[in-house]
Amino acid sequence: MDYKVKVAQVIEQAVDGKLSQEDILAKIEKPKTLNLGDYAFPAFVLSKVLRKAPQMIASELVEKIDQTGFEKVEAVGPYVNFFLDKKEFSKDILSEVLSEGSAYGNQDLGHGGNVPIDMSSPNIAKPMSMGHLRSTVIGNSLALLLEKVNYKPIKIDHLGDWGTQFGKLIVAYKLWGSEEEVKADPINNLLKYYVRFHEEDVNNPELDEEAREWFKKLEDGDEEALKLWKWFREESLKKFTEVYDRLNITFDSYNGEAFYNDKMDEITDLLQEKGLLKESQGAEIVDLEKYDLNPALIRKTDGATLYITRDLAAALYRYRTYDFVQSLYVVGQEQTNHFKQLKAVLKEMGYDWSDDIHHIPFGLITSGGKKLSTRSGRVILLEEVLDDAVKLANKQIEEKNPNLADKEEVAEAVGVGAVVFHDLKNERINSFDFNLDEVVRFEGETGPYVQYSHARAMSILRKAGDLELDSDNLEISDPEAWQTLRLLAAFPETVKKAVSEYEPSVVAKYAIHLAKAFNKYYAHSRILNDDAEKNARLTLVQSVATTLKESLRLLGVKAPNEM
Ligand code: ARG
Repeated sequence: MDYKVKVAQVIEQAVDGKLSQEDILAKIEKPKTLNLGDYAFPAFVLSKVLRKAPQMIASELVEKIDQTGFEKVEAVGPYVNFFLDKKEFSKDILSEVLSEGSAYGNQDLGHGGNVPIDMSSPNIAKPMSMGHLRSTVIGNSLALLLEKVNYKPIKIDHLGDWGTQFGKLIVAYKLWGSEEEVKADPINNLLKYYVRFHEEDVNNPELDEEAREWFKKLEDGDEEALKLWKWFREESLKKFTEVYDRLNITFDSYNGEAFYNDKMDEITDLLQEKGLLKESQGAEIVDLEKYDLNPALIRKTDGATLYITRDLAAALYRYRTYDFVQSLYVVGQEQTNHFKQLKAVLKEMGYDWSDDIHHIPFGLITSGGKKLSTRSGRVILLEEVLDDAVKLANKQIEEKNPNLADKEEVAEAVGVGAVVFHDLKNERINSFDFNLDEVVRFEGETGPYVQYSHARAMSILRKAGDLELDSDNLEISDPEAWQTLRLLAAFPETVKKAVSEYEPSVVAKYAIHLAKAFNKYYAHSRILNDDAEKNARLTLVQSVATTLKESLRLLGVKAPNEM
């Protein structure tokens, strides 16, 4: 039942057609505090037509409005405030959540349309950075949200697996590397060789020449070069997969930059045909002045293609392969200009579907207020973060619930969940400073707090003996339950908002609100008291557990039953 529509209907009747239901719906507000009711109509929107003082219109409207089904309708100043009938409302919402379970909040906004999501996309032979972690968890949550509203997400790990750096890596490996080292700890050792290359080539410029040659060999399909490259890629991906496994994230495609090697000629040909390719100091560019953007550099003087050329090929490939309704790129805000250029070039090529490409930017993670960088050694290693978070979670569990079964498993879910939740709870565009202790707290606006609230709800249900809930007895009159009931009802619109803004934080914030409201209710009520409303109260507890768990799932966070 849509209560807002019901409010609009009774107003429409009372104003004798002076406003349409649509206009009324657009004007109805949700008051900030509960003592002003659940919905409010600003009567002053009628003052011009009726030529009366708004206060007077408000009180006259209250007289005319059919109040059946409302707890009360009253005029406060120029507003008409509507208070919903709590018993009716609780019956409606609880029976809905009870019958739908984890499908509560599902809706059909996408009609099954494909949405490729370019996410994670770390670079081979380099550690996965906190930026890549952000892309991974934001992308994953968007995929889960899109799926909930009936889009078909396609998660693509656009690996950084091509470029001149592979020439350098091959030279470095051949000079200083060993197979055992790479096997034992691929990413750190490959990084070590790469760093050494840069240290030595300062005094040894012929190293650069060699690297160029090796990259050329790689591009020409030289067997040895290809074999090494493939191996570096595999070993790195194995490592990345360890992190993905811990985060419980899978991909539909690992087609990275190299995949587009044989698809770029078509792009340069098309650009040529359409007369878009211009020469500039030996290089080939597409002029984007009319978009107020710098020219896009398509091919370098030596004929090498670039990051954007590969992205053009990838965009076209995705369009042809997936016939997408939207195509998302979850990539840090520092690449905003790149994606503007990408869209502009596609637009120039005459592809109107470029309008369906959306860059989903996010802010930086800093440490001690400073930017992280691999070069300067200011890195936060993802694996260490996850390990430390799990250790902290373990410690808290030892303190609070030492007899818990599956302690290890719960600590992993809480530690990893804490890191993911922390990343998603703020608007993605905000930068934030990483502080592990804050991330893993059981109190405050953290993942563990939401998980803990869910576990508490589950424990109440266990205490009640996991009763069969009666769906015909769901009326709650206790005003203490009101905030929780209202929040439960707001879940579907929350999901919708998160999708339309590509903003998982909307769901994370919602989960915190719901957990807080529920904990407050719990502190004030005797849920297990044997009276007429016990069944309804337990259904409320069950509904909260269902909705918290589903909110966490949409963020990619697990909800243990006990903690
Ligand atoms: N590998 C790139 C980086 O680490 C991110 C790739 C993003 N995706 C894309 N299609 N450009 O910066």
